[in-house]
Amino acid sequence: MILPHSRNHPNTQGKNGLDLLVYIHMGLLSTKKLTIVKNAQGQPGDIGDGLAVPGCQEVMQLSNPRINKTFEALFALEDIREIYRQSLPAGLTEAEEQALKQKLAEVRGYLDEIENPGGQNYTSKIGSLDVRTREEEYINIHPIQAAGRLTPAARKAIIAYGDGYSTCDFCRKPFRLDKITRPGIQDFHEELAKWLNADQARVIPGARRGFQAVVSALVEKGDSVIVSALAHYTEFLAVEQAGGVIKEVPKNEKNVVTADATAQKIEDVKQKTGAFPKLLMIDHFDYQFANEHDVYGIAKVAKQYGIPFLYNGAYTVGIAPVDAKKIGADFVVGSGHKSMASVAPSGVLAVSDEYAPKVLRTTQLAGDVTNRKFGIKEVENLGCTLMGGTLLSMMASFPAVKERSLHWDEEVRKSNYFLEQFKRVQGSHVMSWWPRKHTLTRVDTTGSYNQVAEIHKRRGFFFSEELAERGIIGEFAGATKTWKLNTYSLTWDQTKYLGEAFLDIARKYDLPIN
Ligand SMILES: Cc1ncc(COP(=O)(O)O)c(C=O)c1O
Repeated sequence: MILPHSRNHPNTQGKNGLDLLVYIHMGLLSTKKLTIVKNAQGQPGDIGDGLAVPGCQEVMQLSNPRINKTFEALFALEDIREIYRQSLPAGLTEAEEQALKQKLAEVRGYLDEIENPGGQNYTSKIGSLDVRTREEEYINIHPIQAAGRLTPAARKAIIAYGDGYSTCDFCRKPFRLDKITRPGIQDFHEELAKWLNADQARVIPGARRGFQAVVSALVEKGDSVIVSALAHYTEFLAVEQAGGVIKEVPKNEKNVVTADATAQKIEDVKQKTGAFPKLLMIDHFDYQFANEHDVYGIAKVAKQYGIPFLYNGAYTVGIAPVDAKKIGADFVVGSGHKSMASVAPSGVLAVSDEYAPKVLRTTQLAGDVTNRKFGIKEVENLGCTLMGGTLLSMMASFPAVKERSLHWDEEVRKSNYFLEQFKRVQGSHVMSWWPRKHTLTRVDTTGSYNQVAEIHKRRGFFFSEELAERGIIGEFAGATKTWKLNTYSLTWDQTKYLGEAFLDIARKYDLPIN
């Protein structure tokens, strides 16, 4: 077992007494967690299993050596790439050839170490940045990270297209992102629209920018906009920026927003303000419970009143089938980094032909001195939107994203399977609609794991630590009352392992299991 040596490492001291978790991997999968405890001066003193680290101030994070070596090999290959970037087109100089050979030897060394792990096993760094190995080393149940994890194709795309304006190599007249044919960005826009069964689509830097574009085009100062009582804060901000007024449809006792409640709210707004709302924005699945709201019924109501309807698909577009025409949505907004396996910030805004002239209007201004005009740049999108790795990651993930959306039912089945196990621990409850129709779920463990936290010296952190010890992360650290988790994209084996891990922790602390 190798003890880490002292090193300046800003992230090694936690806020809550657990100063550092050190994972020493013994073999491929088994991990042993060691805890460094602060002494009276606030210095790390001894390690939880009795090993003293005299004078140890900061310790490197130890991790799975094979994963670390994989990163080291990737980084060394990047260094090789840099040799080419610094060379003349004529070819490498002798010194560059030498540097290349050295790096190749390094890569071979790393490959050998991946095959036969051993030796140094600390996580490497990128300058002062830690390497992020959470997705490789753990089962991550973080509520908002699950469906934004990149596909291998997206990871390769950002290696190749990470440079700033990498989309612009072959940008030709009329100089607009969605018209670029190499790489096939124009085709991608058409495919996006077709996939969502919408008339037009644009890529945008996050769902929030979709709300902003639509609200900015349709809402004037003092206009009312209807959202749900479970709406995301970014919808509020988009309305606030335009000077609009938010009107919320109340949720019912099951935390669901209905078409009837929406119709009632429209009437109330008309009665109180004298005018109908200018826009209706409803989340298909909300971020608090991930309950399904009656977007089909609500779209019908919107049509009856002639109010444009924005369907917020941040928690559907990219994981479940979405059909704008079937829903009756004038706008569909999706989030690339939340649900389309893409780099942040990315997303999609689909627009019906009816509203395209307003929301996708092109610039009309001319400079008073130069008389310059800017052709077909779209005002609400501020011209081009995703100009590099973000867009290419979306495009690279798209075939997999389309395919996986067809298997949403299976994802929901896994989610329900896990939660069945989770609920077996007495006092553990699902607060979201049951049975689940989504993989994101709000749970309540006040009557189970929180009972342990009440008397445990680590308080709520005992639970995070027990989970981490079993290779599970992503719950809100320290929370043992109400919190959220997401099982999206876990394999069946991982789903079963997850369920067993929750039961195992319950057994360890003598919590009754049904
Ligand atoms: C329901 C909902 N809508 C919108 C957003 C904002 O998405 P983005 O980060 O893509 O702007 C979120 C983000 O958490 C969300 O949960």
